[in-house]
Amino acid sequence: MPATIVVGAQWGDEGKGRVVDYFAEQADYVVRYQGGNNAGHTIVVGDQRLALSLIPSGIHYPNCTPVIASGTVIDPAVLIAEMDMAASKGLDPSRVRLSTNAHLIMPYHRKLDAVIERYLGKYQIGTTRKGIGPAYTDKFARFGIRVQDLFDPKIFAEKVQTALEEKNKILPRIYNTLPMNADEIIGEYLGYVERLRPHVEDTSLLLHGAIKAGKEVLFEGAQGTLLDIDHGTYPFVTSSNPSAGGAIIGSGIGPKAIDEVIGVAKAYISRVGTGPFPTELHDDVGDKMIELGGEYGTVTGRRRRCGWLDLLALRYAVRVNGLTKVFLTKMDILSAFDTIKVATGYRSTDDAFDEFPAQQSVLYHCEPVYEELPGWGEDITGVRRLDDLPKEARAYIEYIEEAIETEVGWVSVGPERTQLIELS
Ligand code: GDP
Ligand code: IMO
Ligand code: MG
Repeated sequence: MPATIVVGAQWGDEGKGRVVDYFAEQADYVVRYQGGNNAGHTIVVGDQRLALSLIPSGIHYPNCTPVIASGTVIDPAVLIAEMDMAASKGLDPSRVRLSTNAHLIMPYHRKLDAVIERYLGKYQIGTTRKGIGPAYTDKFARFGIRVQDLFDPKIFAEKVQTALEEKNKILPRIYNTLPMNADEIIGEYLGYVERLRPHVEDTSLLLHGAIKAGKEVLFEGAQGTLLDIDHGTYPFVTSSNPSAGGAIIGSGIGPKAIDEVIGVAKAYISRVGTGPFPTELHDDVGDKMIELGGEYGTVTGRRRRCGWLDLLALRYAVRVNGLTKVFLTKMDILSAFDTIKVATGYRSTDDAFDEFPAQQSVLYHCEPVYEELPGWGEDITGVRRLDDLPKEARAYIEYIEEAIETEVGWVSVGPERTQLIELS
């Protein structure tokens, strides 16, 4: 797997952290290419649990270099705190590389994220309030401040002052909130410079050299395909491109460098925040998925919404990302159900769909068409070989493979690193 992208195939929280941790054993580099500390990736090794929001999930392996590439947005205080947390757990954060081109999340981005959500009222997106959307907005408006700006205090101060001239009109006049003080922000951020300096690098050049030298490079998506700004359920999405194309742009490498694209999907599906969700369950079955699956957000602690696996959405993820294989997680959670449903189509009053609809309004009004498959009703958390899985569980995997015309290469049966089955 010389250059492999691992991407969320649903609405995030599919288990990307554990999947990347598994592949990272073979990797020389693990690269975060988009998003910021809206992500929460959990890795469980033995009885140790590590929750990461910015540091790539290769940090456990001393030979693997974690890279935070240009397409990300960085809250420096969060990154520094996370590196300290990693060090306190005996990991070595000195290897973390940070792109000089990555954009900074500024205090006014966090504030705007909160007040814009308040302003949207019942139309709010349910963001993580980490400042992600406003930071990317400034990036595209060419108002953003990048990591490299920190190393020229005069330019940095000018950029903050210019940004605040605009923000300090918007914050009180539109959002009825207090203006912010430029000197405080400048002082705070320049205080991070010496901590960040040893990590900052031209990561595009670094990765280009790595790929040329035949090193194993793993690209770690954050969020998921259905949260993609271009391909997700807009506007209930994040402000970046989690899908596979984002790895190319966000890392500054060419598309021909990529060999494999692995989509991570739960054996059911979940979503945090607002937005349409055709297979969402509002009953005991949904509650059971949430409780057994521990479906509470890593970042915000919010209860995740849960529902049956949506094969239209998964087929869509195969298409949008060009998935070469799928890694199916949380199969163990389905052991609790006598019957397992999968959505194979949607039906609205006057139409039927067998592909994920491009028209957003359909997703609100459609009813899923379900196929019912028999459950296996036994604990599978100790299973490590395909042959040892109950036949109903094997049939479930085969059913998915046929529906999405893509191989399921791995199945996980518990959160711990070793709780997985290699199928091929
Ligand atoms: P990510 O954002 O895609 O990395 O996923 P999260 O870490 O936010 O959420 C996935 C959660 O499911 C984490 O708490 C994982 O420890 C857990 N998890 C991952 N794979 C499995 C699995 O196969 N079974 C169970 N029961 N839990 C899993
Ligand atoms: P990982 O990497 C699940 C959701 C938020 C909200 C929307 C926009 O752990 O899978 P944002 O703060 O990004 O502007 O919020 O996106 N969201 C996630 N949902 N997993 C994530 O990351 C998410 N990151 C953002 O809940 O609906
Ligand atoms: Mg997560």
